[in-house]
Amino acid sequence: MPPGPFISGDSRVVTLLNARSFHVLLDDSLVDKAGTLDGTYMPSLALFGGHRPLAFLDAADPHHATLKCVMIRLAAARMHHVAPSFGAAFTAMFDAVEIIGDDAAAKAYKWLVFQLHPLASKAVKPWFLEDLLLHTFRLPAFLVRRDYAELTAYFADVAAGVLDDTEKADPGAIPRDELLHNLVFLAIFNSYGGYMFFLPHLVKWLARGGPELHARLAGEVRGVVPADTGKAITLVAVEKMPLVKSVVWEALRMNPPVEFQYGRARRDTVVESHDAAYKVKKGEMLFGYQTLATRDEHVFKRGGEFVPDRFVACGDGERRRMLDHVVWSNGPETAVGNKQCPRKDMVVAVGRLMVAELFRRYDTFTATVEEMPVEPVVTFTSLTRAAAAGHGTGSVRA
Ligand code: HEM
Repeated sequence: MPPGPFISGDSRVVTLLNARSFHVLLDDSLVDKAGTLDGTYMPSLALFGGHRPLAFLDAADPHHATLKCVMIRLAAARMHHVAPSFGAAFTAMFDAVEIIGDDAAAKAYKWLVFQLHPLASKAVKPWFLEDLLLHTFRLPAFLVRRDYAELTAYFADVAAGVLDDTEKADPGAIPRDELLHNLVFLAIFNSYGGYMFFLPHLVKWLARGGPELHARLAGEVRGVVPADTGKAITLVAVEKMPLVKSVVWEALRMNPPVEFQYGRARRDTVVESHDAAYKVKKGEMLFGYQTLATRDEHVFKRGGEFVPDRFVACGDGERRRMLDHVVWSNGPETAVGNKQCPRKDMVVAVGRLMVAELFRRYDTFTATVEEMPVEPVVTFTSLTRAAAAGHGTGSVRA
């Protein structure tokens, strides 16, 4: 937790580290999530055009429901674009065998750093320098003002149609400016930020799975979608790939992309762990470290291991029981909660499409994995084309 007093008034938290106690954080009736997205401190509103983005609002705040309805409507309208767009982007990326960072990505990354630096760990060495530079003061928002203004101007332009439609559909519900800043937050923090963690971890686990897992995945994928069809794989097709689905859930279980969750106790309460119970006072900050909660061996056998077919090699009841504890979206895979990620199903679908596209195109691949403080860096070292069409080597950073 970032220490006080300049970043947060009170840096103390009650830490929840197993599957049972962690569930308190997912219960809207027990925790207040107003301003708790980043824990014990709230970034300056100057970083968001003066507005408080949706993810910082509590579910009981009426504004939360208004904004979330708009976000869900926008998402629903675009769901059918997901698979074709993903297919096209995937092919373009591997055709080029490289990802080119551009200016916009650098600006977006910088803006994220200004929000999240107090939570960074092992990013700067030695630790006392990191504490001084990243954990003691807020980096001043004016240093990123220009970059943010450029990002906002870009969104005002490309999302003008969306903003117009929303204003027409629900006049006066959300001021245009506030919606615009929410879209920026949605696109960069929620989406770009989320995938930046999720996809490299997914590729990391695939790389570690080795040729045997790759052969099983390729067999399953090509049983549904032949290797020589050029068409993008559809969401209906991936539904028929149980091992692909299992691998994606397992990656989300082993490495929930958002590792830290927070909420303030709404009232005096008792938090139950597997073997004890603790009193928590109203207003105390609860902090869950999800990576431990979802590896809890009381819930998952060999919880600390990546087991690719964990969600295939079991009955429906057992799968459902386990999925109740796969909570990367701020709620169970089996439910839809008020503060849960509204794009939960799409995120899982993109993960599945990624695995399916990869093993339709390639028999196997090798990669090196470097665990870094923010996300792992996965560098492909070889890619073996399906039907032994060619053996390529390249350096792709995932
Ligand atoms: C891999 C990608 C993603 C991950 C890992 C992810 C994860 C999460 C998590 C953990 C939360 C809850 C945060 C909290 O309160 O503690 C959340 C909320 C949210 N996510 Fe996602 N998300 C992803 C992609 C997306 C996308 C693509 C969108 C929309 C385009 C989106 C929109 C939102 C919104 C609006 C919220 C706030 C919900 C609320 O406060 O009620 N997310 N996401």
